[in-house]
Amino acid sequence: MLIFKVLLIIAVISKVTPFILTPIINHERSLVSLQSVPSDTSTSEVAERPSVPSSNPSAGGPPSGIKPAGPPPPSLADRVFDVTFPILYIFSPLRSTNLESFKNLRVLWTRALLNARKEIDDPIAYRMLPRGTRKLVSRFPSKLIFRGPVRKKLSWIKDRTEFIDAAASKWMEGCPTPGQVVIIGAGYDTRAARFSPLNPNLKFFELDLPEVIETKAMLYAKTFRGEKSPSTLISHDLTSSSSIFDALPPSFSKELPTLFIIEAVMFYLPPPSINNLLSSVFSLPSPSQTIIVDNLAKVGVTPGGPPDQIKQKCKDLGTKYGKEMGEHKAIWGGAIHMAEFK
Ligand SMILES: C[S@@+](CC[C@H](N)C(=O)[O-])C[C@H]1O[C@@H](n2cnc3c(N)ncnc32)[C@H](O)[C@@H]1O
Repeated sequence: MLIFKVLLIIAVISKVTPFILTPIINHERSLVSLQSVPSDTSTSEVAERPSVPSSNPSAGGPPSGIKPAGPPPPSLADRVFDVTFPILYIFSPLRSTNLESFKNLRVLWTRALLNARKEIDDPIAYRMLPRGTRKLVSRFPSKLIFRGPVRKKLSWIKDRTEFIDAAASKWMEGCPTPGQVVIIGAGYDTRAARFSPLNPNLKFFELDLPEVIETKAMLYAKTFRGEKSPSTLISHDLTSSSSIFDALPPSFSKELPTLFIIEAVMFYLPPPSINNLLSSVFSLPSPSQTIIVDNLAKVGVTPGGPPDQIKQKCKDLGTKYGKEMGEHKAIWGGAIHMAEFK
């Protein structure tokens, strides 16, 4: 019954909200689009974290960008998703905690939806969702939601999940010694929970802003009650001048092979913080590795140009830090890079 009420609300809202919300949504998009524009990236607008829970780099919403290097233009489905999603969690404690956590909840919900449609393999996303809204992403309702425009909109979450999962699995298989996985700007990433039971030789660390870590700890406590926590959670603001190594606990060792995962985080960081982060993760020698799925415009990997050139620009970033680029994929004319660096 609840599901049908929610679907009815979605249908009604989808008719009326485009008129009401277009100006607000356009403002959100302009904030995010600044981040994919190749420009002098030291402006404060670029450096600021978006002040609204923009769906764009997170829950399946691509960042707007300049043509020809940019994502598809916003559609009605974008608007409907942006508007209706908050209604689902209007009474959730996770909703009231803070905007970053709420944004992460959208990504989690999206992953659960993609899992229900067998687009990705992430059953943990479903388990971690607050119970009241889980049913919406079970088989039948998810079929109603997962129509053409929604499917298209969410395809970049599928792409990035597949890229990182494949690269991470490959690294983990080749890591017989004790090793470590550090997920940076982890949000509600489910990889620690998915991969740690399969890899008892690896320690998992997840790092994010204090308020996000607080809510993730709540989610873990609820989801894995009586079980070992999938990871060690670390509060750290990447815009601080210190290195992530100062934030990691003594159980982390720079001497062990380490996999760093950075997914959709650099949108929110100013260039000096990105450089600071890259200097740290790239400082560990092979077999340590870094997987990045992000917009790299702020560190000189500007979108645009033919595919070879787009790839070369990303490769050059690794070379600058003495790293070799392995697998690489770019979408939206290089507005997003998916790359592994060894
Ligand atoms: C779009 S979410 C991506 C989350 C996760 N990587 C994923 O793909 O599901 C961006 C994440 O970056 C985190 N973040 C943003 N600014 C940060 C900062 N200054 N320090 C640490 N984390 C930050 C946010 O809290 C959020 O969890």
